[in-house]
Amino acid sequence: MISEQQIREAVKVVKDPELRKSLVDLGMIRDISVEDDRVTLTLALNILKGPKKDSLVAEIRKVLGHLPGVSSIEVHLTAMSQTDLEQLFPAQALTGLKRVKNLLAVASGKGGVGKTTLAINIALALAREGRRIGLLDADVYGPSVPVMLDLKEHPAWENNMMIPVEKFDLRIISLGMIASSEKQAFIWRGPMVGKAIRQLLGQVLWGELDFLVVDLPPGTGDPSITVAQAIPKGSVLMVTTPQEVALADVRRAIDLFKEFNLNIVGLVENMSYFMCGHTSEPIEIFGGGGGAKLSEESGLPLLGAVPIELKIGLGGDSGTPLMVSAPDSETGHIFQNIARKILEEVDHP
Ligand SMILES: Nc1ncnc2c1ncn2[C@@H]1O[C@H](COP(=O)(O)OP(=O)(O)OP(=O)(O)O)[C@@H](O)[C@H]1O
Ligand SMILES: [Mg+2]
Repeated sequence: MISEQQIREAVKVVKDPELRKSLVDLGMIRDISVEDDRVTLTLALNILKGPKKDSLVAEIRKVLGHLPGVSSIEVHLTAMSQTDLEQLFPAQALTGLKRVKNLLAVASGKGGVGKTTLAINIALALAREGRRIGLLDADVYGPSVPVMLDLKEHPAWENNMMIPVEKFDLRIISLGMIASSEKQAFIWRGPMVGKAIRQLLGQVLWGELDFLVVDLPPGTGDPSITVAQAIPKGSVLMVTTPQEVALADVRRAIDLFKEFNLNIVGLVENMSYFMCGHTSEPIEIFGGGGGAKLSEESGLPLLGAVPIELKIGLGGDSGTPLMVSAPDSETGHIFQNIARKILEEVDHP
């Protein structure tokens, strides 16, 4: 019969594509058991749902299949614990997050629904409640925070840690602010995305923060999963639009975050209605009720409905968000109320 040691030796050639080391050396191969010609083992992954799992399982099967006397191979999958992750990524042990009390990820399964716009305005509204707020643009594919806040400066570095840029009472970091000469440190293609995000979360001198608001890219891919895993005590704010088509994607994202035991604070419906100057009646351009429907079926509270407003869009283009140019407007109050509700839900002293 083949020994556990022989299995271990055989699997040693399989490397994690992101970490570029042997799965065995990374401690990702666990609970090997051999019974006659049947081998069972567990593969512990840092990104359980990521694209690499299938190819890794296939490779493990291949190398073990070549061993004499092995006829069946069973590979179980498990997610690494937070402690495992910290050991695995010592350079990004998330030291920068030590004094960050709460993480609030702004997410949506869908693109273009206004995540970045809401992340910025809600971050500003939280700051107006007297909280210390950071803003991390985790959209590694298309960082838009620098444009929406008109940020041109590059963050300074100190002992291999980045110092966030301050504007409008926020401490801000975005991949879009990092000079191209410094970007080699952040390779954000394919499986490296997770690494880049952990760096953005942890290798930043955030200092003392009540909330770090994280603007997520669209979708439920690696970046969202990485943020979800990095913040076991984090919360998520889901953004949706009223249309039915948006809801399916948002539902998928809700399921994903629930799977990672993240606290979803609630939903915000963006582009809910349009205030027509002539009638002062709200016009539900996209048909109403998507947010309410989702709230009902998911049991998540609807924290607010933000109208379509020229000032919101223009604020994004000009670098002066509505919560800076018109915090006391009607829409400003809507953002402020959403911020207050978030504080009621998550404010761990
Ligand atoms: N309530 C609103 N009223 C008017 N314009 C808005 C509103 N919300 C967002 N926008 C505009 O819609 C566009 C998309 O918004 P935003 O970039 O915030 O979406 P996103 O979900 O972050 O997109 P992506 O998925 O690409 O990251 C922007 O031009 C923004 O200014
Ligand atoms: Mg965005």
